[in-house]
Amino acid sequence: MKGNDKSVTQVSLLNKIEKREAVVGIIGLGYVGLPLAIHFGHQGFKVIGFDVDVRKIDMLLRGESYIKHIQMEQIGEKIKAGKLDVTVDFNRLSEADCILICVPTPLTDKKEPDLSYVMDTTNCIADNLRAGQIVILESTTYPGTTEEALLPRLETNDMKAGEDFFLAYSPEREDPGNKKFDAANIPKVVGGVTSACLEIASALYNCITKVVPVSSTGAAEMTKILENTFRSVNIALVNELKVLGHKMGIDIFEVINAAATKPFGYTPFYPGPGLGGHCIPIDPFYLSWKAREYDFETRFIQLAGEINVSMPYYVIDRTIEALNQHEKSLKGSKILVLGVAYKKDIDDERESPGYTIMKMLSEKGAFVSYNDPWIPVLKQTRKYNFQKNSISITPEVLREMDAVIIVTDHSAYDFAEIVRQSNLIIDTRNATSKIDGADGKIFFA
Ligand SMILES: NC(=O)c1ccc[n+]([C@@H]2O[C@H](COP(=O)([O-])OP(=O)(O)OC[C@H]3O[C@@H](n4cnc5c(N)ncnc54)[C@H](O)[C@@H]3O)[C@@H](O)[C@H]2O)c1
Repeated sequence: MKGNDKSVTQVSLLNKIEKREAVVGIIGLGYVGLPLAIHFGHQGFKVIGFDVDVRKIDMLLRGESYIKHIQMEQIGEKIKAGKLDVTVDFNRLSEADCILICVPTPLTDKKEPDLSYVMDTTNCIADNLRAGQIVILESTTYPGTTEEALLPRLETNDMKAGEDFFLAYSPEREDPGNKKFDAANIPKVVGGVTSACLEIASALYNCITKVVPVSSTGAAEMTKILENTFRSVNIALVNELKVLGHKMGIDIFEVINAAATKPFGYTPFYPGPGLGGHCIPIDPFYLSWKAREYDFETRFIQLAGEINVSMPYYVIDRTIEALNQHEKSLKGSKILVLGVAYKKDIDDERESPGYTIMKMLSEKGAFVSYNDPWIPVLKQTRKYNFQKNSISITPEVLREMDAVIIVTDHSAYDFAEIVRQSNLIIDTRNATSKIDGADGKIFFA
C-alpha cells in the first residue's frame, strides 16, 4: 500500500460510517457518554451503550433517567425503536464498529492521574478487539495517553493500529446543562495514531458535528487540557482580584462587566466559592503530572490551583467576619448552605466547593443544613459522608438561621425573598447585588 492507498478494512469501515450502518459502542454512560449516545442515535446510527453500573443500565431500561437535564423521552424512544441498546455485557463489544471511551479520569488522593477506569476499559476492548474496529478515547487525559497507554495494550493480539484496527483521541467538550451548545454544535477536535485512524474518526464525528482535525493524538489531548487550564487560570485571577476588591471596597463583578464591554482582547470570567465539577479542578493536574517527566514545572497551573483551592477557606473567613459583625460566633450558629451543585441548574456536585464549605463549617462547630432543588440527598462520596437531605426553604426556616451562604445561584431561587426572610447572607455568586434595602445583611464572599 502506497501514498493515499486505502486498505480494504479502512474503506469498508468508512463506507459503513457514511451509510450510517456502523454500530457505535459507547463505554461509560455518564454526563458525557449518555448525551453522546443520544446524538449518534439521532443521526441514524445504532448505538450500544456499555456501563459497569448495573443500577444505571436498569434505570435506562425501565425508562428512568439518572441525569436530570437529560430528557428520558429521548432515550426511551431510541430504546423502543431498537436504535439504542444498553448493557453491562462487555462481550458484546465485538458488535460495535466504532468504540468510544467515556469513562472517568479522576485524580488519586495524591493528585496524580488515575487511569484505572480507562485501562480497565482498554483491557476489556483488547480482549474483544476484532479487525475493522475503531477505538476512540474521549476521556480527558494527559498528552501521550492514547499512544503510550492504549496503543501497546490494543496491539497485543498481533493487530496493528492503522491497518487492522484504528485508534484515535477526541476530547469531549460537553458542558452539562448548557442550552446553547451540545454535541450537535460543539466542534470535535480529532487526532489519530495514523492518517487512516484520523480519517475514520473524522468521518464518524462529521456525521454529528463539525470536525477539527489535528496532527496527532497528543495535540488533541493537549487541546482539551489547554481549554480547561485557560478556564482555571482565568478563574483564579478573578478570584484573587475579588479578595482584593473586598479589601478595597471595589465590586469585582461591576469591574468585570465593565471590562467585558471591550469588544476585543478580553473574555469575562467570574469569581465564585472555588472550583467544582469533574473537569476544571482536575484536568490541569494531569498535565502538570506529565510535565514532571520532562523536568518541567507548570507554574500557572500550580498557582491557579492554589488560589482556587483557597476560595472555600475565604468563604469561611468571610462568614466568621459577617457573624462577628452580628455579634455571633460560628460555633453554635445555624447555617444554611444554598446549593451544593458545582454550578447552577445541574445535578452534578462532584468536587463541589459546597462540600468543602459544609465540612469546614461543621468542623468549626456550626449546625449545618443545606438546600438544593437539584440534589435532594447528599450521597456518600470518596471524600465526604454528610448523610443529609435538602431542607425546604420556608420563611420560618430562613428566619431561624443565623446565616445563609449562597454557594450556587440556581435559577429556582427567589433571592429577593431569601434576603427578605434571612438574618444574614453570605453571597459567593453576586446573586443578591441588585436587591435594595438589605444593608448590613449581605456580605459578598
Ligand atoms: N462531565 C463533564 O462535563 C465532562 C466534560 C468534558 C469531558 N469530561 C470527561 O469525560 C470523561 C467522563 O466524564 P463523565 O462526567 O461522563 O463521568 P461520569 O462519572 O458521569 O460517567 C462515567 C461513567 O462511566 C462508567 N464506568 C466507570 N468505569 C467503567 C468501565 N470500566 N466500563 C464501563 N463504564 C465504566 C461509570 O459507571 C459512569 O456511568 C472524564 O474523563 C471527564 O473528565 C467530562
